[in-house]
Amino acid sequence: MDLQAIVNDTWNALADERGGGTPARYIPALAAVDPCKFGIALATDDGQVACAGDADEKFSIQSISKVFALALALEREGSALWDAVGREPSGDAFNSIVQLEKEKGIPRNPFINSGAIVTTDRFIGRRGVDEAVRDLIDRLRRMGRNPQIDFDQDVARSESEAGERNRALAWFLADFGRLLNPVEEVLSVYFRQCALSMSCRQLAESALFLAFDGTDPVTGQKMCSASRARRINALMLLCGHYDNSGQFAFEVGFPGKSGVGGGILASVPGRAAIAVWSPGLNRAGTSLLGAKALAEIARRTGWSVFSGQLPEI
Ligand code: DON
Repeated sequence: MDLQAIVNDTWNALADERGGGTPARYIPALAAVDPCKFGIALATDDGQVACAGDADEKFSIQSISKVFALALALEREGSALWDAVGREPSGDAFNSIVQLEKEKGIPRNPFINSGAIVTTDRFIGRRGVDEAVRDLIDRLRRMGRNPQIDFDQDVARSESEAGERNRALAWFLADFGRLLNPVEEVLSVYFRQCALSMSCRQLAESALFLAFDGTDPVTGQKMCSASRARRINALMLLCGHYDNSGQFAFEVGFPGKSGVGGGILASVPGRAAIAVWSPGLNRAGTSLLGAKALAEIARRTGWSVFSGQLPEI
């Protein structure tokens, strides 16, 4: 299968739809991004990365960072993390607070904002926040094979300034005694984590571990065990797009994680990691064109986690 041709054809088939959807405006720094950006990168275990469009331009990865934070929090905490955060789809928006009170401060899953704040808190653990941020960036630089990967200070500041909703969630968690660290310290890491700036190529390379049993098949670096990678994929499939997860599984059929910067990271177990970017979002905060591109790649490759057939690469 000519994956570069599939990526090119997918990009060309959708290029006229650039600018569709609505870019996130609740984080002012994100509203300044050109809505017509569109990139695709598909990384495979032979070290190849098939790219099209703006695949090498960095963007704010936002909630995609929650996947990496989850893997790293599990590494630190082990399965004790699951005492603090659930594994069920919420059926509500990513920043919803309604279930948190009824369920006594145990967020439904690690991908809604409340769950990600808990995960970040556990990733920080008992060390200082700056050490935790350095550790996170260090790991991503290694996984993304690029020493320049960093967070964007303007985006982090912008999100903190507009961060009332996340503060409300974090204070609710603190009231239930669910955080180890002070609210503002946890949020200072969470905002920086969401403000990580990466390209589609870097994201796809960083996420190969999800598609290949926890270990990057190109560099040999182990991020997590095979069973943990499987479970992260399961959570991405069920919760990666919040109240749009069912639709994404229906249309695309890959575990995926969206971010309000317009990126989507998908893993195709045993096959590839794919990152797409287009800033216009649907009502659930998933990139409109990005989801279409992934559906198109699924259709053209025949890949799906729901298929019994294994098409040739
Ligand atoms: O906390 C927030 O609201 C953002 N930093 C991240 C939200 C997000 O990316 C939702 N995903 N599609």
